[in-house]
Amino acid sequence: MVKISTSILGIKDTLDKNINRVYKSKTDYIHIDIMDGIFVPNKTFEYEVLKKYIDNSKMLDVHLMVDDIIKYINIYKELNPEYITIHYENKNIDKAIDLIKKNNIKVGIALKPNTNIEKIYDLLDKIDLVLIMSVEPGSGGQSFIYSSIDKIKKLKKYIIDNKYNVLISVDGGINNVTSKLVISAGVDIIVSGSFITNSNDYNERIYELVN
Ligand code: DX5
Ligand code: ZN
Repeated sequence: MVKISTSILGIKDTLDKNINRVYKSKTDYIHIDIMDGIFVPNKTFEYEVLKKYIDNSKMLDVHLMVDDIIKYINIYKELNPEYITIHYENKNIDKAIDLIKKNNIKVGIALKPNTNIEKIYDLLDKIDLVLIMSVEPGSGGQSFIYSSIDKIKKLKKYIIDNKYNVLISVDGGINNVTSKLVISAGVDIIVSGSFITNSNDYNERIYELVN
C-alpha cells in the first residue's frame, strides 16, 4: 500500500492553526521542506519555530533544498526524522550520506526534473529512498511534470531487477489525478502539499489520493 507524506510548506505561516489537523489526519509522514534561499530562491522554516510544533507522534520526512547540507543535517537530525533527503545536485553528497547514516536516520536522494535517473544508480546500495521531483524544487502549488512518470517506471524496474532495498517517492504537483499515474508507475511514498492543505478536510483529500 502506498504511503502518504503531507508537505506542510503551504501552512508554514499558519502552523499554530493547522499543524494539529495534519497530526490528526491519516497521513503516514509529515514532509518538511527546508529551503535556504541559495539552493533555491525561497527560504522556509526557522528551526526554532518549527521545533515547537513537531513531536514524535508522526514520522518526519525532511527534504533539504539547501546548499550547506552538512550544516542542515546537523540541525534537523535533532527532530528525529525517519528520513533526511538531500539533492543529487548538492556538493559532497558522499560525506552527507555517511553523516545521515551515522545518526541512524534513513537516507533519501532527490533528483531535480532535469537530472537523468541513471545518475543515481551507483548510489542505490547506499541509500533508502529516491525522491523524484515532479516540479522544480522551490515552491508548492506547481503543475506536475509528466516526464516524471517514465523516470519512476525506469527506476522501479532497475530496483527490482537488481534487488535493491530502496523506496521511490515523488514530490510536486500531486493531486487525485496525478497520484493514480505515479501509483501505477510504482511509487511507494507520495508527497502531497497544496492538494491536501488547501482543503477543509485533509482526510478526504488523503483518501482521494489513494482511492
Ligand atoms: C517543492 C517541495 C514540495 C512541495 C509540494 O519544492 O519540495 O514538497 O511543497 O507541494 P505541492 O504538492 O503543492 O506541489
Ligand atoms: Zn519537498
